[in-house]
Amino acid sequence: MENSKRTVTCGELTKADVGKKVVLNGWVSRTRDLGGLVFIRLRDRYGITQVMVGDNASDEVKKIAASLKSEYCIAVEGVVAARAEKDVNKDMATGEIEVEACDIEIFTTSQELPFSIEEVRQKDGTLVVANEDLRLKYRYLDLRREPMQHNIILRSAVTFATREFLTSKGFLEIETPTFIKSTPEGARDYLVPSRVHPGKFYSLPQSPQLYKQLLMVSGFDKYFQIARCYRDEDARGDRQPEFTQIDMEMSFTNREEVLETTEELMRHIFKKTLNYELPVHFDRISWDDAFDLYGSDKPDLRFDMKMQDAAFMADLSDFNAFKAGGANADKNIERHKRSGLKALVVKNAADKYSRKHIEALEAVAKINHAKGLAWMKVDAEGKFEGGISKFFAGKEAEICSRLGAEKNDLLLFVSDEKWQTACVALGAVRKQLGKDLNLYNPKDEFHFAWIIDFPYFAWNEEENHWETEHHMFTLPQKKYWDTLESDPGSVKGDLYDLVLNGYELASGSMRINDPALQERIFEIVGYSRERAEKAFGFLVQAFKFGAPPHGGIAPGLDRLIMLMCHEESIHEVIAFPKNNLAASPMDECPSAVDEQQLKDLHINCYDVEKD
Ligand code: AMO
Repeated sequence: MENSKRTVTCGELTKADVGKKVVLNGWVSRTRDLGGLVFIRLRDRYGITQVMVGDNASDEVKKIAASLKSEYCIAVEGVVAARAEKDVNKDMATGEIEVEACDIEIFTTSQELPFSIEEVRQKDGTLVVANEDLRLKYRYLDLRREPMQHNIILRSAVTFATREFLTSKGFLEIETPTFIKSTPEGARDYLVPSRVHPGKFYSLPQSPQLYKQLLMVSGFDKYFQIARCYRDEDARGDRQPEFTQIDMEMSFTNREEVLETTEELMRHIFKKTLNYELPVHFDRISWDDAFDLYGSDKPDLRFDMKMQDAAFMADLSDFNAFKAGGANADKNIERHKRSGLKALVVKNAADKYSRKHIEALEAVAKINHAKGLAWMKVDAEGKFEGGISKFFAGKEAEICSRLGAEKNDLLLFVSDEKWQTACVALGAVRKQLGKDLNLYNPKDEFHFAWIIDFPYFAWNEEENHWETEHHMFTLPQKKYWDTLESDPGSVKGDLYDLVLNGYELASGSMRINDPALQERIFEIVGYSRERAEKAFGFLVQAFKFGAPPHGGIAPGLDRLIMLMCHEESIHEVIAFPKNNLAASPMDECPSAVDEQQLKDLHINCYDVEKD
């Protein structure tokens, strides 16, 4: 072919182009050989174009066409032709045309594939997908698959929309170092040994937290960064050892402004990339209510079913298991004035849930530390039946009216001395019911909510001391400043989480900018002046030079894209993720290194089996 560079992509030709001479480049997705005619589905990231090799082609070209196999990379020169009405494919952007080839050039051939790039479905319609390690080993091929192309392209569009919005609001994009001092944050650090400083290590940042606060001291009052973060923590579907945050910080601000800016950012992203309208303001739920009503600080609000307090039932019968939850035995209950006897009324579910199904729900409750899941049903006459019904016979009217239960409803209960344990366990059952019964409101595809008023301190039972729920630079709400030391358990923080469809999407807070207040926090969590100095000395020092009031937030980009794509794992939205063992089957990292490299770094590995 004289000039094999493409003149058009595989996703753009329509009826309006009929008669044009074009050159297409791409991969052979599939061929069909009908004797004298060969049809080729040619694919690139823009779409698929059907190529027909027939009368316009020489014998030489026909021979090349007959030799093509899946994933050969080729160029096709030809003329755009309209398809016959009966052959029009309405599902494809290019479905009205085909290209009649006059020449074909094979750039490169392809070996037999480890899995199919084309969508393959089983008879029942479910998609056949290769196992994850195989996909990750050949990730460059996996990324050729249409769903992966979609996710990665959306990701690019979201980062563009983020930059577009934040820049328009006066935010500056500033990079911060990825070799930093190891400081105690939530997870374990990844460490990088220094060759020049024997025995010393850089740490990879768990987030740019301290640096963005320093940038506020420097006067860059609106900062953002699409920031890589590194955390050595156990794998989960929504976690990666290296992940990306849309990291933001603002000075001379308050909580309202940070929340509103984040809402506006999300609205812009969803409108620009999915043409989806989010509400102007997201719901706000206090941390206490989030646990009390939904059993989670990241509730899935796409369905409404709320948990209820059922303490009154403890006194209605001799059913022993309800006594613990109904009594105010736990100091947490004092704190929240809420009981550990929680109920869920599942509407119209009595005949949908057999004993076996309820046992499966009980297993969910038990994994979440409940002692059991009590249940009964309201039958067609309004009487209780099954489970614990015999303890409450005759009390139907009172119980149903207080819980809002009606005929054919299923009632589920968890009772525990600890309010939070009962909430979390029944909350997990609620989540499972949402899935089982598909309770999601179809008009509520993306349900955002703010969780606010978090407890500032949490009691570490194992080590017997207070620690901060978020990080130590979070501002306690002002009304608690006088009682920080005397009643740490009641203090609420000026921090907030953004949740989306049952996932924590973002966390942030107003920060402390007064060194004296910061010292009080260090003291309450048992950080001596020396220890704080050693870990965060540079930040404490910087705050002595006129630190402005400031605050910020960091939405996780991977989780955002995962939810926008309706995926269940962030692996599906990262080009080259690690597997669940934090390894990459493709390049086999982490890997052993030469003895000499270790020597240069002054490292001696012990307790390691050598290959
Ligand atoms: P936090 O630790 O809550 O806050 O992280 C903020 C958001 O980052 C995402 N995220 C992760 N995503 C994938 N894999 C992980 N291992 C992972 N860990 C966290 C989540 C989470 O909500 N510096 C503070 C923010 C601030 O206060 O401004 C911070 O990092 O979506």
